[in-house]
Amino acid sequence: MDELNPSIPNVARMYDYYLGGKDNYAADREAAEKILHAAPFTPVLARHNRRFMQRAARHLALSGIRQFLDIGTGLPTQGNVHEVVRPLVPDARVVYVDNDPVVAAHGRALTATDDATIVLRHDMRDTGALLADPALRDAIDLGEPVGLMLLSMLHCLGDDEDPYAAVAALRDALAPGSHVVISHITGDDDVTDNSVSVYGRANTGMTHRSRDRLLAFFDGWTLLEPGLVRLDEWRPEPSTGTIGAGGGYYLCGVGAK
Ligand SMILES: C[S@@+](CC[C@H](N)C(=O)[O-])C[C@H]1O[C@@H](n2cnc3c(N)ncnc32)[C@H](O)[C@@H]1O
Repeated sequence: MDELNPSIPNVARMYDYYLGGKDNYAADREAAEKILHAAPFTPVLARHNRRFMQRAARHLALSGIRQFLDIGTGLPTQGNVHEVVRPLVPDARVVYVDNDPVVAAHGRALTATDDATIVLRHDMRDTGALLADPALRDAIDLGEPVGLMLLSMLHCLGDDEDPYAAVAALRDALAPGSHVVISHITGDDDVTDNSVSVYGRANTGMTHRSRDRLLAFFDGWTLLEPGLVRLDEWRPEPSTGTIGAGGGYYLCGVGAK
């Protein structure tokens, strides 16, 4: 796994910069500024991505899900899954997983006083090691439904890394009644070319996928209404607001097993 190297732009820290966080270095800010130049709406998309995650997590909690597995969790920022679901399910168990050492260290500090929330460092590509981790098995009962959160992370994996197989392996391991929440970058034009080239020099790439390729992540799941839509179109609430320019660059959806 990559260890901390502040001179290589890092996808988690670039995302932190878009969200106005302070956990980023000069190389991250420089790469992020290149993205912002071509796609100035990126911070708006990042905020709407968080809002979608929060609406979907609340929906799952209200549907009776009591355990959550959030993979590619990112640097801690306000309104993480455990903060969103606890008011609805006080004993909810939340497992955060990220392969980034900085994310894992921050996350451990954040959840040090919370027995029902843990942070594990794993690579999603190795679902076998993740699912076999005794810490995960202690926290999550695989015989009961799980809310699997894959927000803005599957596009970090190229097709050659087979994210479809990883999602399918997780689906097969989870109990009926489990749900998957996905958001993912899409689009194919100049903005895409720029982002592919900037992220090509970062610690992970950035793979834009078509609507059909995104629907394929939901194979074996039943896509809930309103289907695969823009971030501001998934069950919006009065406070959701609209994205405006760039809204079509992200799609999201929730599937049930
Ligand atoms: C753009 S951030 C998304 C953060 C959060 N899920 C959100 O949507 O607000 C992507 C995260 O995925 C993590 N990530 C990328 N590839 C990964 C992999 N193969 N396994 C686990 N985590 C990964 C990165 O370290 C980063 O923290």
